[in-house]
Order: sequence, then structure tokens, then C-alpha cells
Amino acid sequence: MTINRRQFLKTSAGGAAFAALPISFHAAFAADGFLEITAAPSQQSLYSDTAPASDLWTYNGTAPGPEIRVKRGDRVKVRLINRLDEPTSIHWHGIRIANAMDGVARLTQDAVEPGGSFDYDFIVPDAGTYWYHAHNRSWNQVARGLYGVLIVEADTAEFDAEHDRTLVIDDWRLDQQGKLDTASLGSLMDWTHGGRIGNWLTVNGKSLPRYSLNANEAYRLRLINASNARVLGLDPTQFGGKILAYDGQSLPQPAELTYQPLLLGPAQRVDLLVVPKAGEPIELNEVSGNQPFAFANFDVAEKPDSKLVTPALIPNRLPEPDLAKARSFRLDMTGGAMGQMVDMVYNGKKLEGNDFRDTAQVWAFNGIANLATEPFFSVEREETVVVETINRTSFIHAMHVHGHHFRILERSGSDIDEGQPWRDTFLIGPEQTTKIAFVADNPGKWLLHCHMLEHAAAGMITWFEVG
Ligand code: C2O
Ligand code: CU
Repeated sequence: MTINRRQFLKTSAGGAAFAALPISFHAAFAADGFLEITAAPSQQSLYSDTAPASDLWTYNGTAPGPEIRVKRGDRVKVRLINRLDEPTSIHWHGIRIANAMDGVARLTQDAVEPGGSFDYDFIVPDAGTYWYHAHNRSWNQVARGLYGVLIVEADTAEFDAEHDRTLVIDDWRLDQQGKLDTASLGSLMDWTHGGRIGNWLTVNGKSLPRYSLNANEAYRLRLINASNARVLGLDPTQFGGKILAYDGQSLPQPAELTYQPLLLGPAQRVDLLVVPKAGEPIELNEVSGNQPFAFANFDVAEKPDSKLVTPALIPNRLPEPDLAKARSFRLDMTGGAMGQMVDMVYNGKKLEGNDFRDTAQVWAFNGIANLATEPFFSVEREETVVVETINRTSFIHAMHVHGHHFRILERSGSDIDEGQPWRDTFLIGPEQTTKIAFVADNPGKWLLHCHMLEHAAAGMITWFEVG
């Protein structure tokens, strides 16, 4: 499905459309210091401010939910209150978190039942751009709006609030009235193909927002892809943007992008350094379709007293993999439409005939669909792990490792970024092989899964254990 602004303009509901008032929630701190985040149904216009409101599920009444901003080393205390009709949990994506706080329903905690609550209480060890999202039936809950931003500031001053902007980008599937299409949630067609791809982008919950920047001042734009499955194609070279950080981890120096487009997979983040020029407004475009889709605009104001200060980002200290002593594991990705038929086991049983349709399990890691009782691997604490991933499917995937950040060592058929920057999610194209390495220094049970949420639900998910 392509995104095409004209297609919507043609069919947008005219005249009588007005925005329903959102139920109002207040970000509230309980007496014990916990920030209360309530997951509940609410309404929000997505296609435009005046379009008919969509029925979403949100944190504290809006998608994205409340932005959490803390400093490196801080303790974060959040009470998740569930006012949905189904169980839920929150995962703190990219945080090297204590295992019990990772928010993975059925692996690190029981999902929070309707009417229940759960206290998340953890330390954030690294500065950077992170996000949080539902981690139970994520394909459904994240698609309906259950996500928010988590920014961890460094202890030293970086960019001030005015020069530090977050843009959380989401890809929605809207119906002809511009409302969230909920009827197609769980479509087997999406699960067996590229996931739930939408037809409309919002930034911070708004359609084509317009921001304003000053000329000749340095800005940090934190881009987060909260889409279920869309890989965003970006071209920051159009406005001279440089890379400051990937997936929250800043590079030693701002880097020029030597290729384009820059692909930002589901759950990935990129922080850009942008210095706008007078008279040159910036338009952010998604360039993967047959024509660019503008999703955010920046007016550029001229200020006589503007001065160019480019704060240096200090990279987090992450444990360096020791490749000479690494334990290596291989992950074969199979399944999906247009792939070769390979044997697949689900819940200990080989899938045959109608089983695929009946279980909706169509993808596998090493021949196993979904979480097995045995981990993909277990290692001792502090061991270096190398995972070689071989994508034998016809689709691109966004692979996420919980609890750790890794370096990409190799990627067949394409260059890797200089300096092998740290990431928590990597893209792997059809027929590609990618090698990553990390130090398993965080004890517990951790997921490794495709962040195309339909793929994860349909089998592309496994776990490993750090002793
Ligand atoms: Cu952002 Cu397991 O997820
Ligand atoms: Cu995938």
C-alpha cells in the first residue's frame, strides 16, 4: 500500500466533519512518586485536525503518550494502569534495563489484566532517544496508538530544549473517511507479507505538522519510527542533515550520510544534526514510494542574533565485544509469502496444510515459529555473542535484541556504516546475511524478534538467556 496525499484529499469527508473532544487525562504523579500512565481507549483525528476522530488506544489520552524525559542514571518509576479490555504491558525499547522491568508479557512478567496495574521501576544507564510501547499483542496495541517517547539526557548539557526536537513518526492505515481502519487488524495477508503497512503518516500524532526553526542554529532532530511495519526512506542530505546517533547511541562525531535513502525501520531511531539556512524551509519526505510523501515542515526564521553552537554528544560507555572469544550462533529466517516452503514447528508440532491458517504461524527462526520452551542460546554473563542472521525470506525485516545494544560487523551485499555504530534494531534485506556482536552483560531472559509486529506475532520471535 502506498501513501499518497492526493488519494486522501479526493475522498476526505468535507463540511460536517469536526474533531471529537479527546477524553482528558492528566499525567499524574501518585503520592509515592510513580508517574501514572493509563492505557485506555480515546479518540484522535489523524488525517487532519478536522477529520473524523479515530478510535485509538492510548497512554494518558494521546498517541504518542506522555513524553518521559530523564537524565542518564536516573530512576524511572511508572505505574501502568490498564483500562483496556485486554491485557497489556509496557516495554522500554532500547533501554539496557533490568530484566524484570523489560515488560515482555509471558517472558518477564504477566500481562496486566484489565483493571490492573504494574509498577515499572528502573534505572536508565544510557543517554539517547528511546521509546516505550505495548508488548502484549503489540501488532494490535501499537497499531492503535499505544506508544510514547522516552528521552534520556546526558549529564552534560547538550542541545537546549529549543534546539532538541523529537519527531515520532507513525504509519497508520486509514479508511476512506480518514479514520483508523480497525477491520483489517490481524489480516493474514499482512501477516504473511510485509506486515501492516499504512497509507498515512503522522508526526507526534499530527498530520503534516509545521514547526519553526532559526537559521544558522544547530538542532538535534530525534526521529523515531513507531510504525508497525513500514520502513521509512529518508533523505537528510536534501537539507544537509548529519547523523548524530542511531537507536539512541551517539556516534563519536556527527557523520555525513554517504548513501541515500537512509532507511529507518520500525522501532529504529536516528538523531539528525540540522543547521537550517535562511530562505530554505525544510520539508521532511518519505521517499520509498513512487513519489515523495511530505510528513513534516520546518519554516526557517532569520534571527539577527543567532549563533551557531554545536554541542558535542558524548557516547555512552558500552561494553566492547571481544571477538576473539566470541560464542557464535546462527539464525535462519524462513517463511512468509513467496518464500521457499520449509519445515516449521510450532508448540512442538510440525505445521502442515491448514495449520498455517489456523495458527497464523507462518514465519520461523531456525525452523521454530514463536517462543519455544528452550532458548535460542544461553550464555554466561559477560560473554561476547555473535549472531549471524540469514534472511531466507522474500521480505526485509527489522530485528530487535532486547536488553543489549550491538555492533553490526558485516552485512552481505552492502556496506556497513563506518565505525560499526551501536544499534538495538537492524534491518536485513531479502537473501541478506548480517552479523552482529554484543557483550551479554545483562542477566535474564531476552527477546530477539522482528519488529514488524505482524511478523513477530506470526512466528518471528525467539529468546535467549544470559546467566
Ligand atoms: Cu520495541 Cu520487543 O520491542
Ligand atoms: Cu519481519
